[in-house]
Amino acid sequence: MAMELRPCRLPLTGTLRPPSDKSITHRAILFSALAMGSTRIVRPLVAQDTLSSRRVVESLGVKVDAGRDEWVLSSPGPDHWLMPSQAIDCGNSGTTIRLAMGLFSLSREPRTLTGDASLSKRPMERVAQPLREMGIRVETTRGYPPVTVHHDGAIRGITYDMPLASAQVKSALILAALKGLEPSEIREPYPTRDHTERMLRQMGIEISQTQRGIRVEPVTQWQQVRPAEFQVPGDPSSAAFWAALAGLLPGSHLVLREVSVSARRTGFFRHLQQMGVHVDIADFPGEGQIGNIAVGYRQLRATTVDAAQVPDMVDEVPLVALMASQAAGETIITGAKELRVKETDRIRATVENLRTLGVDIEERPDGMIVRGPTPIRGGRVKTFGDHRMAMMLAVAAAVAQEPVILDDPDSVGISYPAFFERYRFWQQGQTFRD
Ligand code: S3P
Repeated sequence: MAMELRPCRLPLTGTLRPPSDKSITHRAILFSALAMGSTRIVRPLVAQDTLSSRRVVESLGVKVDAGRDEWVLSSPGPDHWLMPSQAIDCGNSGTTIRLAMGLFSLSREPRTLTGDASLSKRPMERVAQPLREMGIRVETTRGYPPVTVHHDGAIRGITYDMPLASAQVKSALILAALKGLEPSEIREPYPTRDHTERMLRQMGIEISQTQRGIRVEPVTQWQQVRPAEFQVPGDPSSAAFWAALAGLLPGSHLVLREVSVSARRTGFFRHLQQMGVHVDIADFPGEGQIGNIAVGYRQLRATTVDAAQVPDMVDEVPLVALMASQAAGETIITGAKELRVKETDRIRATVENLRTLGVDIEERPDGMIVRGPTPIRGGRVKTFGDHRMAMMLAVAAAVAQEPVILDDPDSVGISYPAFFERYRFWQQGQTFRD
């Protein structure tokens, strides 16, 4: 059902803990299947996407004890995974299907993965091709899901220069490489999020840095792989919507608490800094990559984004375009063609929606050009069933002159089920006190 959002210029104040990190929760769930015994996940993200990953591991025989703040996943280990039954539905989740392709490479029985209408249009050959080079049998449906994966002989190690920067592809190959006859080396054109490497190391798997990428040592026996305890910090990609609002609304001063502050995830916050927004990223000493991010309003100025910067803010680029519309000058976003194969074509969807709202924005094959500042009009916009499009448009609605009507806001349940509840809380003039 459509949702009308009214403009609201109230500042954002206080302390907000965003929902837990989606990327880390997916991995914690999926990697639990590798280790015989009980993996603990403290504060997992419970949302539609991560429930898709739960279905994947349950199909392998992992038992999930889902408490309120902690999940315990008990796996029989890869040598005792259940025989496949029907195809597993990965819903809307690209991370689930791509990482599961890596996981299922370790199995001798063919297993099939499907997805919803959006996922069924997302490219899978980027994973399938290198997996085939490793000797794994992968069938895609003309390049798309459903995909069926297994190995029926030895898995070869691979040295692979990834043609695109994708943590999902990298992660799938790392998983398959765990049973390679030789070590594998995976190289990326630009560094992407490294949660997989860090979390697998925590489980006792040897992954080292090379000059141009990473090297994965195969495991000889699954007993080498230890079940771990994963603490999931807040998701910077969900925090980004509040940071954007705070950067747009005079008088705002908001602290985003317990967020994953890995450099590979905080590109959007660095971009806000360059635009003139007050941003202070403070990691907790000794806690790895967790910290608080304080954001305060300032006048915005335009600044560019290029291919090297995109992976660190890949899911936040639609927000970059919105911020650019309120900044003085021309913002040129290049090197972002990956956005065309996300939950929807996010370049097209961003351009179409922001143009409907009166923004001066031009579509480019690999990005956008935005000239600002322009006032945001009201109007009817389309989420295209994309959670991040819905939330970006909710941010736009706050600074619009007239109400903005979202055709279908429900997709926020993919990554941030409580988003609109928190949005209304702020619109009632309340201070966040998480
Ligand atoms: C993700 C990686 C990114 C990102 C996605 C989550 C991950 O995709 O867009 O939302 O968890 O590895 P790509 O690595 O394919 O760019």
